[in-house]
Amino acid sequence: MTDGNAGATRRRLAQELAVVAGFEDPRAPLEQYHTPPDLAAHIVHVADLQGDIEGETVVDLGCGTGMLALGAALRSPTRVVGVDIDPAPLSTARENERRVGAMTDVSWVRGDATTAPLCPDDPVTVLMNPPFGAQSGQEGADRAFLETAAEVGDFSYSVHNAGSQEFVEAFADDNGGEITHAFAAEFELPRQFDHHDTETRQIDTEVFRIEWTG
Ligand SMILES: C[S@@+](CC[C@H](N)C(=O)[O-])C[C@H]1O[C@@H](n2cnc3c(N)ncnc32)[C@H](O)[C@@H]1O
Repeated sequence: MTDGNAGATRRRLAQELAVVAGFEDPRAPLEQYHTPPDLAAHIVHVADLQGDIEGETVVDLGCGTGMLALGAALRSPTRVVGVDIDPAPLSTARENERRVGAMTDVSWVRGDATTAPLCPDDPVTVLMNPPFGAQSGQEGADRAFLETAAEVGDFSYSVHNAGSQEFVEAFADDNGGEITHAFAAEFELPRQFDHHDTETRQIDTEVFRIEWTG
């Protein structure tokens, strides 16, 4: 695929994901903000090019209203599972699934993503934009999500706070994983929590693909 074609494919996916509604009543302690469609499309597109979506089981840990799970469902996975601890965004995710109209159904599961609620037999690709813990003073909250990714995933794509590379690399090393791809992404969050003092807020993040072999 040429760069031009790849760019067009990715932009089309971002357009398809633009209909995904965000959190109706976001809960700050759970860091409920949704991944922008452009970034979700970028992650899913890279995963698809790597062969990590087609024919695979894709699990979105902390799926919220379903952005990453639905992005994967718009490709050709065998199945897609979205897990979130809060039932409210899961019902929005079901509505979003109807809006997006993907060919692959998504199983929406209420559960704690940090206790590995699944043990699929097939190869699994994990997609996740987990809580960072920065607002709750529990920096490193993404570690527990990475533990689940290491347990259930063959490959994972995860979004982290900018400056996390050293931690993610060390975690992967200690848990039978290797970072194969990394890219930076910044996006704007609308003002949605009381502790946000401006209309929008810029977040600098890093995305890592990890191959888990351990
Ligand atoms: C930053 S949001 C990302 C939402 C969604 N993945 C997206 O990209 O739009 C983090 C999500 O993790 C969920 N979450 C927080 N702690 C969780 C846990 N222990 N188990 C499952 N989901 C959790 C929150 O409810 C929230 O939906």
